[in-house]
Amino acid sequence: MSNMTKSPKRQLAYVADLNKCIGCQTCTVACKTLWTSGPGQDYMYWRNVETAPGLGYPRNWQSKGGGYKDGVLQKGKIPPMIDYGVPFEFDYAGRLFEGKKERARPSPTPRSAPNWDEDQGAGEYPNNSFFYVPRMCNHCAKPACLEACPNEAIYKREQDGLVVIHQEKCKGAQACIQSCPYAKPYFNAQVNKANKCIGCFPRIEKGVAPACVAQCAGRAMHVGFIDDQESSVFKLVKRFGVALPLHPEYGTEPNVFYVPPVLGPRVEMPNGEHTADPKISMTQLEQLFGKQVREVLKTLQAEREKKIKNQPSELMDILIGRRSADMMISPMT
Ligand code: SF4
Ligand code: SF4
Ligand code: SF4
Ligand code: F3S
Repeated sequence: MSNMTKSPKRQLAYVADLNKCIGCQTCTVACKTLWTSGPGQDYMYWRNVETAPGLGYPRNWQSKGGGYKDGVLQKGKIPPMIDYGVPFEFDYAGRLFEGKKERARPSPTPRSAPNWDEDQGAGEYPNNSFFYVPRMCNHCAKPACLEACPNEAIYKREQDGLVVIHQEKCKGAQACIQSCPYAKPYFNAQVNKANKCIGCFPRIEKGVAPACVAQCAGRAMHVGFIDDQESSVFKLVKRFGVALPLHPEYGTEPNVFYVPPVLGPRVEMPNGEHTADPKISMTQLEQLFGKQVREVLKTLQAEREKKIKNQPSELMDILIGRRSADMMISPMT
């Protein structure tokens, strides 16, 4: 059965500036604490931050399949549990209160976990590099999860375009997990239902920014309505064109965008001089964000030059984000 996606009246969009994300996982913990501490949810991180290049979470999610090819929904795979990392506990009680002398060891012994390959990255010194990619449901304009569900349990909210799973209608079919190319719905085996990022809609409805945005320690996150010309998301995505979707070729039309990490250190040549190219491989960035990355690099470099020369740059001011309130314009305005 195929469900039609109605266009919402408005669409909320998120922007993550990868030049500023420090991989601190504050957003991960904010989301985890708020939404996924219930039964069967230990292993799921609706919000996760992974090191790139790297395996990601779940491991190798970029080859799981799903999304759309030539406009046709693709099935994809359900990642095995081991790829998410089996949750483990430390015996803090024994160490701290029961006089056990050995270190509080994790049990079961972990073999993988979200961001298991933290900071490994790629390349050889002095041109090794890595960066962080915060990930969440993209609240896509063409949500493959929604179209795949045989029980019409997934819907796109008219007032903000957030894609939500109706928990009572969900029968645990897992077609959403197969079809989402970003591996962002999670199966809750204890209740036989899928759970995923809800875009913090109970907060949005009160005009409060999502927890992952509000708590961002690096001031790397922006949120707002994409049709609000005063919002930083409109300016970054539409006006300046410096925020790009992750894997646009998956065909789901994400509403989470990324400012690619092109403002980092430059490539170092054997004589110690630096080229104009970022250390982070442009080929890799093109694989993630498409060919527009090179245009974004030019724009950001030109705007940064203005700042260096003490000239005004609205784009750089937005990205600096001196007032966090400007990065998350009241979502209900
Ligand atoms: Fe659905 Fe996946 Fe898009 Fe989220 S990212 S709306 S789960 S297809
Ligand atoms: Fe989690 Fe809310 Fe952020 Fe979604 S919007 S990842 S539910 S904190
Ligand atoms: Fe990056 Fe902000 Fe998340 Fe820290 S809180 S990992 S800076 S997005
Ligand atoms: Fe549908 Fe996914 Fe539930 S396919 S029935 S929302 S597990």
